[in-house]
Amino acid sequence: MILLSIETSCDDTAISVLKCKGGIKNASFRVLANASNSQIKIHAKYGGVFPSLAKREHIENLPILLEEVLKKAGFGDQVAKHAWRPGHQINLIAVTYGPGLEPSLWAGITLAKELGEKWKIPIMPVNHMEGHILSVFGKDKGKFALKKIKTPALSLLVSGGHTELVLSKKWMQYEVIGKTLDDAAGEAYDKVARMLGLEYPGGPKISKLAEIYRKNKTLHEGNIAQRDGASIAIRQQANMRVESGQCFAFSFPRPMIHSKNLDFSFSGLKTAVLYAIKKIGKLDENKKREIALEFENAVIETLVYKTKKALESHKAKTLIIGGGVASNTHLRREMKKLKNKNLSVYFPKKDLSGDNSIMIGIAGYLRFLKNKKKGTAPESIKATGNLSFK
Ligand code: KG4
Ligand code: ZN
Repeated sequence: MILLSIETSCDDTAISVLKCKGGIKNASFRVLANASNSQIKIHAKYGGVFPSLAKREHIENLPILLEEVLKKAGFGDQVAKHAWRPGHQINLIAVTYGPGLEPSLWAGITLAKELGEKWKIPIMPVNHMEGHILSVFGKDKGKFALKKIKTPALSLLVSGGHTELVLSKKWMQYEVIGKTLDDAAGEAYDKVARMLGLEYPGGPKISKLAEIYRKNKTLHEGNIAQRDGASIAIRQQANMRVESGQCFAFSFPRPMIHSKNLDFSFSGLKTAVLYAIKKIGKLDENKKREIALEFENAVIETLVYKTKKALESHKAKTLIIGGGVASNTHLRREMKKLKNKNLSVYFPKKDLSGDNSIMIGIAGYLRFLKNKKKGTAPESIKATGNLSFK
């Protein structure tokens, strides 16, 4: 079956055409075409996504991307140009209906409904977060195949809007067992980046700075030596912390690490960074790197700690990490350490960690199969900004 998938939940407009085969346990996918448009440059000056602007951009870009994927998928120029005409081989449309920014979601849903009506084919609404979980099935050269996932499976979803631990006692059934009480991990990265004068989205930029500091031993050791020689007053003022032979100028909290539940909170950490920056006054490149490193360590240690706790208490056999923050190098490195003979750990390919329509296509096909190959009545598909698993 050939499927067209649409993703517009935030600031990425994306459309894919996938060839889908097999049943719910052995499905495989081939990407026939994939096109996307990132609005990062447009939103960067606002330091975050501006919803009405995002919607306008989606509406403008969707028809362009549609023509592009139909062409790339090999349906021919005429079909691509007259995409609205019925009569090509697409059998199903998958579209994100939540969670996300409602004006943005509506842009994709409206297109899906129009195409569904014109082409007379079913539509499958998709939960964006399920898309992030299922994004881990990528193989090389645009091919995807379901792996045999052992349950219970735990997914850590970390993006700009979400930080959740999701338990699947059975495959494709979800229960949220922990979530952030305030900012999402990606959001905290973006806000701290802004404090450091880095552009939106800040995650990759902070991560890069932290990684330089982590990797560059000479720079790091030089700094420690310099600080070790500093007077006690300066060291106290700088609020230094010494940990396993390393000396940090900053010490940020590991939020809720001692709480009994599996919830997260990142807004206090963000405030701690703000105070530290205020105290320093003028930030040079080295200070920025140091803050980035300690902030990243605080976020990732917390994510790893809570994930470990959830894995143990639910005796999970599989760990899946998904969402934009899943492309973080240090997070991947630390989570891989949890792998053992009783636990498999899966990440999406780096280019599928962030928002994309391929993961929406995979989720759409599997949901269609689960729904006995029936779509959803178009009139009941509504943008649901706060959609959750339960
Ligand atoms: O899943 P995603 O593309 O969009 C949402 O659904 O939110 O996630 C975007 C988030 C942004 O907050 C971005 O800063 C963060 O993912 N991000 C990262 C990295 N790459 C993207 N955070 C930390 N390290 C990264 N390498
Ligand atoms: Zn996302």
